[in-house]
Amino acid sequence: MADEKKVLFSGMQATGNLTLGNYLGALKNWVSMNEDYECYYCVVDEHSITVRQNPAELRQRARALLTLYIAAGLDPEKNCIYYQSHVSGHAELAWILNCYTYMGELQRMTQFKDKSAKHADNINAGLFTYPVLMAADILLFQADVVPVGIDQMQHLELTRDIAQRFNGIYGDVFKIPEAYLGKVGAKIMSLQDPSKKMSKSDENPNASIYLMDDPDTIIRKFKRAVTDSGSEVRYSEDKPGVSNLIDIYRATTGKSVEEVEKEFDGKGYGDFKLAVGESVVDVLKPLQERVAELSKDKTYIDSIIKNNAERANYVATKTLRKVQKKVGFPERIR
Ligand code: TRP
Repeated sequence: MADEKKVLFSGMQATGNLTLGNYLGALKNWVSMNEDYECYYCVVDEHSITVRQNPAELRQRARALLTLYIAAGLDPEKNCIYYQSHVSGHAELAWILNCYTYMGELQRMTQFKDKSAKHADNINAGLFTYPVLMAADILLFQADVVPVGIDQMQHLELTRDIAQRFNGIYGDVFKIPEAYLGKVGAKIMSLQDPSKKMSKSDENPNASIYLMDDPDTIIRKFKRAVTDSGSEVRYSEDKPGVSNLIDIYRATTGKSVEEVEKEFDGKGYGDFKLAVGESVVDVLKPLQERVAELSKDKTYIDSIIKNNAERANYVATKTLRKVQKKVGFPERIR
């Protein structure tokens, strides 16, 4: 059908606390995406157990992430927000794709190398085949576009290679997905080292603003944010700390660089940092209130979880059955 929307798929791990960088750089910009795309946002809990997790914590974080997505404005009637573990097709397709992926390809993955160095006591097979499960996530939904950060580009490339290989053998089974580089949000850097991205896995808690930080914590972290020599609030390459704060302020207030520079002309870093902190509080407070509100409504969240899993299952099963037939599994008798 000519008017059928393209498909967008993205997955996120529920490990670590989401940061202001995740919000301003990604989440916030996804809210209107469902006008142009049929959107799937999957909480990838199966990926999470490639490193050891506390079960109660994983469960709680997965639900918190799902709730946060809705609180951030992703309408769960228009966006399919669901848990990976509720759609068995992910694991089933991953198994099949494992048989079409080479050891050498997986050995080259930089994330595997990084994570095996970090978790040397637990280099399990799941950690190794992590990218195959990710490929299954994407291909199961015949995604056209996948919004990913640079760190996931290698996995997306592999997904395309696997899909092309499979299609080469069996005909057009999978859509070949593209990275989504459209409306990208602000790139927010660490408050303690502006040469690094703000990251939920940063060991220094002062480097990141977490979405659930209370106002005092937010203001304090901004007061401690590293700035540069001099005292001028000016956007420039030799002022990475100040420029990052300007970027944050632009994203929270909608002001332009010129407006921000003018606003703080003649004022010091102290006033500026406080204003940035307050603008972040103004953005995060209503978000936190919506999370609290939604969290109280267990029946509502449960119904979203159930309905969206059913929707996702329906779509996933269509691809899965086609793949199973192609590789030669016997037909189901009904
Ligand atoms: N590996 C991704 C990350 O760590 C998460 C992920 C899993 C994902 N499956 C996906 C992202 C599918 C995009 C599409 O960020």
